[in-house]
Amino acid sequence: MSWLRLADWFAVAGVGGLAAVLGVTQISDSWSGRHSLAEPGADASLISRGAYIAHLADCSACHSVPGKPPFAGGLPMALPIGTLYTPNITPDPEYGIGEWTLRDFDRVMRTGIARGHGMKPAYSVYPAMPYTSYASMPAEDIRALWAYFRFGVQPAAVPNRKSDIMWPLSMRFPLTLWRWAFGPSAEPFDATGYGDATIARGAYFVDGPGHCGECHTPRGVGLQLKASTHADGPLYLSGAKVEAWYAPSLRSEGPGTLEEWSAEDIAIFLKTGVNHHSTAFGSMTDVIEHSTQHMTDDDLLAVGKYLKTIGTPVGASFQYDPATANALAAGNAVERGALVYLDNCAACHRPDGKGYAGVFPLLAGNSAVESSNALSLISVVLKGSTTPRTGSTPAKFTMPPFAWRLDDRQVADVVSFIRSAWGNRAAPIDAKDVARARRDIAKMPHLPETPPLVDPRAVP
Ligand code: HEC
Ligand code: HEC
Ligand code: HEC
Repeated sequence: MSWLRLADWFAVAGVGGLAAVLGVTQISDSWSGRHSLAEPGADASLISRGAYIAHLADCSACHSVPGKPPFAGGLPMALPIGTLYTPNITPDPEYGIGEWTLRDFDRVMRTGIARGHGMKPAYSVYPAMPYTSYASMPAEDIRALWAYFRFGVQPAAVPNRKSDIMWPLSMRFPLTLWRWAFGPSAEPFDATGYGDATIARGAYFVDGPGHCGECHTPRGVGLQLKASTHADGPLYLSGAKVEAWYAPSLRSEGPGTLEEWSAEDIAIFLKTGVNHHSTAFGSMTDVIEHSTQHMTDDDLLAVGKYLKTIGTPVGASFQYDPATANALAAGNAVERGALVYLDNCAACHRPDGKGYAGVFPLLAGNSAVESSNALSLISVVLKGSTTPRTGSTPAKFTMPPFAWRLDDRQVADVVSFIRSAWGNRAAPIDAKDVARARRDIAKMPHLPETPPLVDPRAVP
């Protein structure tokens, strides 16, 4: 057999193998995950329960965009292979999910297989749709959610935007293989082993509809979550990069984690976006605005109590050190980054790092500032951020972007400065880290812009 023949043979085997994989994945997508649930009617209490679950599960964060009808889709989601736009999930028969049944809806919610549109057969969705977390939602919750999307949401005739992902990467069969390898088992949440019913309720919310781990747990090479529940070990909720931000550890395990937060502190943060440890910024702002501020106080406290069971506290509490404030007050800004801080930051965060409660966050003892990974701090300095607007905190406060004003060295110096000033215990960073973040942010044009807010005293 000549080499050419052998190559031909491999090509035929390759194409044949691919066709077989395509066929098997297609059949699997069309047939798996069928459940027999009774279609709900337009029952007002079921619809309002579904609306609450839609808040818990933060559907609007991804399926609603400003200026368009609610749930009409169109949010760009950057994936390594291109940009995907979220679909219209209103009950519009042509462009939305108006022709779907509860079974179709349950299937995409818990197993990641969408019904398809028109001639397009059922297909596996990208795990950018967090079905991997929703998989643990019990049938009654899915049914209430469906009643809300079927009868409580207005249909909107907004066509779906095609993804920018090019063929062959746009083929869906690898997603079926991904589901086989990493997909959830779609078993309803099991409360046994959590001891207390409140803690179990918190765990259900965090791992299920709240999908907190989708941002706060690191991902493996296949982009799968490295840990889905507390039983999966120390990587669970240990912190992870999310686009330009770092979603910090939600464990109680030393500086830069929730060790010094109480269950009540966590509940207040999720309700209002601010507490005496930190102020929400970056992508956590959306989570609070769209989702957690709408939760009942009991559910929020359940989340706080559950999170406080994770990790092994090390017992090192933050001690405020007045040395930095004294030096800055005496005009002594020789420490690296101190001058950049005085010139650009101290007007709002104050020389003593204590900020103005409820307006400008404190930086001294701030868990986000002490996080093991400084990406969020670099990004907040480069891009700025605006505090979440919630029912209890209607005013928004803005941290202006400094990308135009400070070079990589200055950003590295000022971030390193705040990480060790006033008794903070975090490691310094390098100008290279800032350069990398600047390049990454430039590749994410869809991130919201913060309006520049120029302090006249600070203009050179
Ligand atoms: C983190 C972002 C995100 C959140 C939160 C989210 N979705 Fe999605 N959803 C997506 C993306 C992205 C897709 C499309 C995936 C694809 O095309 O592979 C999708 C697809 C869907 C589909 C399939 C629609 C179709 O036309 O095929 C439905 C239905 C859906 N989502 C409903 C929901 C509901 C209900 C919630 C809240 C419980 C929700 N989603 C929360 C990102 C999200
Ligand atoms: C879309 C991604 C995303 C999701 C989903 C998400 N978070 Fe966050 N979270 C972040 C980012 C980014 C930060 C860092 C910014 C900050 O501290 O506000 C953060 C910060 C936090 C903080 C403050 C930590 C600190 O040390 O200051 C808490 C508490 C928190 N998240 C809890 C939760 C809970 C509980 C959930 C689930 C209901 C959740 N998050 C879901 C992205 C996310
Ligand atoms: C005009 C007032 C103002 C100035 C000047 C300012 N900040 Fe901020 N800063 C804020 C506000 C407001 C927030 C909260 C933003 C949010 O929550 O989205 C914030 C948030 C932060 C955070 C995140 C902490 C948290 O809990 O939210 C860090 C870190 C930070 N600023 C550092 C700096 C540094 C370093 C400088 C100087 C280079 C600076 N800030 C200049 C107002 C300011």
